[in-house]
Amino acid sequence: MKTDVAIIGAGPAGLLLGHLLCAAGIATTIVERQSATHVLSRIRAGVLEATTTDLMRQLGLDQRLNAEGLRHEGFHLSSSLHSIRIDIVALTGKHVTVYGQTEVTRDLMDAAPERGLEVIYEAADVALHEIESNAPWIGFTKDGQHERLDARFIVGCDGFHGPSRRAIPESTIQLYDKVYPFGWLGLLADVPPCDQELIYTNHEHGFALASMRSATRSRYYLQVPLDEKVEDWPDDRFWDELSVRLGPEAGARITRGPAIEKSIAPLRSFVSEPMRHGSLFLAGDSAHIVPPTGAKGLNLAASDVAYLSAALRGFFRHGHTDGFESYSERALARIWKAERFSWYLTSLMHRFPSQSRFDRRMQLAELDYIANSRAAQTSIAENYVGLPL
Ligand code: APR
Ligand code: PHB
Repeated sequence: MKTDVAIIGAGPAGLLLGHLLCAAGIATTIVERQSATHVLSRIRAGVLEATTTDLMRQLGLDQRLNAEGLRHEGFHLSSSLHSIRIDIVALTGKHVTVYGQTEVTRDLMDAAPERGLEVIYEAADVALHEIESNAPWIGFTKDGQHERLDARFIVGCDGFHGPSRRAIPESTIQLYDKVYPFGWLGLLADVPPCDQELIYTNHEHGFALASMRSATRSRYYLQVPLDEKVEDWPDDRFWDELSVRLGPEAGARITRGPAIEKSIAPLRSFVSEPMRHGSLFLAGDSAHIVPPTGAKGLNLAASDVAYLSAALRGFFRHGHTDGFESYSERALARIWKAERFSWYLTSLMHRFPSQSRFDRRMQLAELDYIANSRAAQTSIAENYVGLPL
């Protein structure tokens, strides 16, 4: 098998990049370890920056997004002492769209066949070869048969646990890692949200987030210790604690219902530099992870593939390589600012086990400053809607 660009991973990054390259007439094949059903079963965050919705519009794949996506013009930061609305439209002129990232993946997945984007699912034992040459290739097993996919470039969109980042020599790669001392217990339920907008709260018991997927489907999170078990959180316990953390006003608006999904996710900040080695490029979670607090995961993957698809178009159309030279630097500049914002919001809104009384007063003072400063609110708003490409 031969193609121009071989992509490993059919998550949002791989599918978005695959469509952008196909639309530019660049032969592309995606090799994915899981089945399409498994890829869609992963529950992910739901806030899209304009960067991401613009790419879907550019691809002509935004019909459902336009019909079902919710335009959000602000969100709330609260504590026992504060209730702050960050008016992102008034402060930045931009809005965000609430639309499940799983739905983005579904839209991209469904359109692949008609767009000529080849996706090979259930490909096992994917291995990268000759990545420092101009003729790299991927080996994998499909239906018990050993296969080889030759390409001019390989793009690793295989997430944090994939093989691509690990194919880069340790002597070349710089890793930056921060693991947070808590996780998020998430619950999905077919009940109306407790508010029209998202509420991030820092309560004495811990962080909570009230989000949504639609006017009839809610998504909630509670900060829990790392050693917590989902089975220790029957629905009633979750609803009771959520009501306490959101406070009496929002708490009173909560509609309870059976969880259709409940899981605990750890929080991590991670960056791997550089994002290119020879004929291998990294994009999305294979190169970086952000704590979900800033809802940056998919949106950073989108900016990575916006930069990389432009570089690959320049090469295949005009033989230009300048986009390759600058890819890692350009992508990392935006990644590190999103890492900072996600770390900042996580540090501001969570209770840390080692937190001193002074640390707690620093959080409350920061929230007090934000409540009374347009400059502070503008800074938060422009990072939340997404910094320019
Ligand atoms: N071989 C083939 N495919 C692999 C392998 C492998 N060895 N390892 C991982 N994969 C696939 C996974 O099955 C998954 O479908 O790579 C894909 C990686 O997808 P994601 O983990 O969703 O990462 P990415 O596409 O970068 O998404 C970025 O989108 O949904 C959000 O918050 C999420 O931060 C994430 C962001
Ligand atoms: C979600 O709806 O899952 C969500 C929204 C905003 C975040 C994180 C998760 O910051």
